[in-house]
Amino acid sequence: MSFVPYERPVRTAFIGLGRIYDLNVRAYLGNPDAEVVALVDPSAERRAQRHADWPGAALFASAAELAASGIEVDAVESLLPAALHADGVVELLEHGWHVNAQKPMCNDLASARRMLKAARASDRILRVMENYLFYEPLRRLRSLVQAGGIGEVSGYHMKMVATGLGGWDVPFSSFEWQMEQMRRGRGILVFDDGWHKLSTALWLFGPVREVRAWIGNTSFGPGIDIDAPATLTWEHHNGVRGVWDITLATDMYMRSDYYTNDERWEVTGRTGYARVNRCTGRGIQQPSLEVYADGELRGYHALDDDWGSSFRDSGRHWLRWLRTGEGQLLWSAAEAVEVLRFALAAYESSAAGGAGVDPAAVS
Ligand SMILES: NC(=O)c1ccc[n+]([C@@H]2O[C@H](COP(=O)([O-])OP(=O)(O)OC[C@H]3O[C@@H](n4cnc5c(N)ncnc54)[C@H](O)[C@@H]3O)[C@@H](O)[C@H]2O)c1
Repeated sequence: MSFVPYERPVRTAFIGLGRIYDLNVRAYLGNPDAEVVALVDPSAERRAQRHADWPGAALFASAAELAASGIEVDAVESLLPAALHADGVVELLEHGWHVNAQKPMCNDLASARRMLKAARASDRILRVMENYLFYEPLRRLRSLVQAGGIGEVSGYHMKMVATGLGGWDVPFSSFEWQMEQMRRGRGILVFDDGWHKLSTALWLFGPVREVRAWIGNTSFGPGIDIDAPATLTWEHHNGVRGVWDITLATDMYMRSDYYTNDERWEVTGRTGYARVNRCTGRGIQQPSLEVYADGELRGYHALDDDWGSSFRDSGRHWLRWLRTGEGQLLWSAAEAVEVLRFALAAYESSAAGGAGVDPAAVS
């Protein structure tokens, strides 16, 4: 595409001012690469609340109103509820704006194709942000493993426990659209939060050739279902196997500044292992990264292991990239389609009783 970097701050609008705005905004605060020119949300309460951050920004109830206003916009942060991503992102691209979209990209491949087509037709960049790739303990784990710090990789596992108590408040309206997504077969743990785990798997060890999954359900009453317990396994093209277990601990308290998610990544190599002990929540209070090799355990005590910082760094990366065009943009829309294929392969496998499914063959 004919992208030309900006020689001035990127004029940005936030589309959707809900819960996750609180973290996405961190990339913009005090950042000379960006100028926030507009805030968009149908909720007047949200607009008023966020206006305090950007008193100079114009306020709109819809993206169409912003487009009609004549205000010049280069790029937008799309923070819409997941079910609106496909139509919403297509509309934003058609307005002629680059889009930094929250995950999950969309629910199916037909929508993903539509989004890519809109980006091509408008000659704009579509990025699906993946803040986990900017979480320092995971970055260190990746570079350490790639440098051979634990020998040749034998395999790895990821763990995610959705705990019920603690953390920040999540508005009931966010929960409602999540339950609607669940009814469409795109649950909050495997698909919504899980998107990040699948992304990290692809980022760590490359393309996946086979997925086997067993996705369960826990009901909390009519229309309130959570997609756990679930177990996903897969094999990368390089032969490395991964396992991810998702469990619910409804009455467990988890200290967290954000969601109460207890997460771990543990890679085993021929001579040792490397483990990220926590991410979103503050479960294990040991160093966020530990590496065992040759009979010694090394702890990394000085990493920026505040999960919120990964949003700051992911957004800064996007803005810097728009300013310079230099280096690889993490994650491109095409890479996000691979994450979607991975998730769809897990659903297909689970429906087939755990049979192996090649993500490339998902239709
Ligand atoms: N990266 C992460 O770790 C992470 C964490 C949480 C949420 N998310 C993602 O962020 C997105 C938003 O989640 P959230 O928790 O902030 O949801 P939310 O429900 O708190 O916020 C969504 C906001 O969008 C607004 N909105 C609805 N329709 C709109 C429209 N047509 N135009 C403009 N605004 C509109 C709503 O009024 C609301 O304020 C979701 O895709 C979610 O999956 C990502």
